[in-house]
Amino acid sequence: MRILGIDTSCDDTSCAVVEDGHRVLSNVVSSQVDLHARFGGVVPEIASRRHMEMMIPVVEECLERAGIALADLDAVAVTYGPGLLGSLLVGVSYGKSLAYGLGVPLAGVHHLEGHIAANFLREDPPPFPLLNLVVSGGHSDLILMRGHGDYVVLGETVDDAAGEVFDKVARELGLPYPGGPYLDKAAELGNEDEVKFTRPKIRGHKYGFSFSGTKTRALQELEKRGHSQETVRDIAAGLRKAIVRDLLYHVPEILVETGARAFAISGGVAANSLLRREAEKLAAKVGVPLYVPPREYCTDNGAMIASAGYFRLKAGVVSGPDLSAEASLPLSSWARTSS
Ligand code: KG4
Ligand code: ZN
Repeated sequence: MRILGIDTSCDDTSCAVVEDGHRVLSNVVSSQVDLHARFGGVVPEIASRRHMEMMIPVVEECLERAGIALADLDAVAVTYGPGLLGSLLVGVSYGKSLAYGLGVPLAGVHHLEGHIAANFLREDPPPFPLLNLVVSGGHSDLILMRGHGDYVVLGETVDDAAGEVFDKVARELGLPYPGGPYLDKAAELGNEDEVKFTRPKIRGHKYGFSFSGTKTRALQELEKRGHSQETVRDIAAGLRKAIVRDLLYHVPEILVETGARAFAISGGVAANSLLRREAEKLAAKVGVPLYVPPREYCTDNGAMIASAGYFRLKAGVVSGPDLSAEASLPLSSWARTSS
């Protein structure tokens, strides 16, 4: 089954053709970084306009690279939320029209379910139950996946998402846009123990995350120490160490408690070098296999959406013409939240 996956949730126009949920025939991402860089962040109006210009060329390139025609598609999967409304609308309207025009089924995919599916873009899929740490610009979640379509949210951030903090602090450090990957590079050259960050206490949320205090502390240290290259690198290194420590803090305990057979990380922040290294160490120590997507499938892409769509359709979940773009789409719309 060949599925065209579309993601226009933020500032990348992404498309992919994926066969049987795991074999990527093509994956095209048209980045808008150049358009938003001078504003230091994504400008929603500009993003949606560029999606409108790029949607059809990106699909055409995607099909050409896959060596197939539109008529060879068996289904269409599209992110319908959460994200920027104007951006989502472009992908959803296009995806719906295409599926209708071709007479093939449509799968509306929650963006986070897509990120999780990035770890299924491989011949040997992870076993269940699978503990997922999903970390992006908008989310930091621990989600137990007991099977396709069967998710339990074990922990979420109570304030900022990890990616959001990386981006915000990177901007204040004077690093180029988008901040996360540049902060990661600067951190490689810094002393991670020069600026120390304590672990926040989060009342009432056993496995919750909190990053706003860490962000504030980084900004205060910057104010105090100035912007020398050395300071920038040290703050980047200290912040990265603290965020990675907090993200992985409860994972060993949860792996034991839930009997999860594997650990997976996904989302844009899963491209972070330290998170990848530390997750590797943790998994080896606990004795469970670790699944990490290649970097191109960590950040937003159409392949992960096609994969998630495949498993939805296989389970008989088909979206109708009433599928609408949803800027805010709670996890509970597709996953249970453990109390
Ligand atoms: O999943 P994604 O592409 O978009 C959202 O769904 O938000 O994630 C983007 C986030 C941004 O905050 C970006 O700075 C962060 O992922 N990111 C990184 C790295 N690469 C991307 N953060 C830290 N280190 C990286 N290497
Ligand atoms: Zn994302």
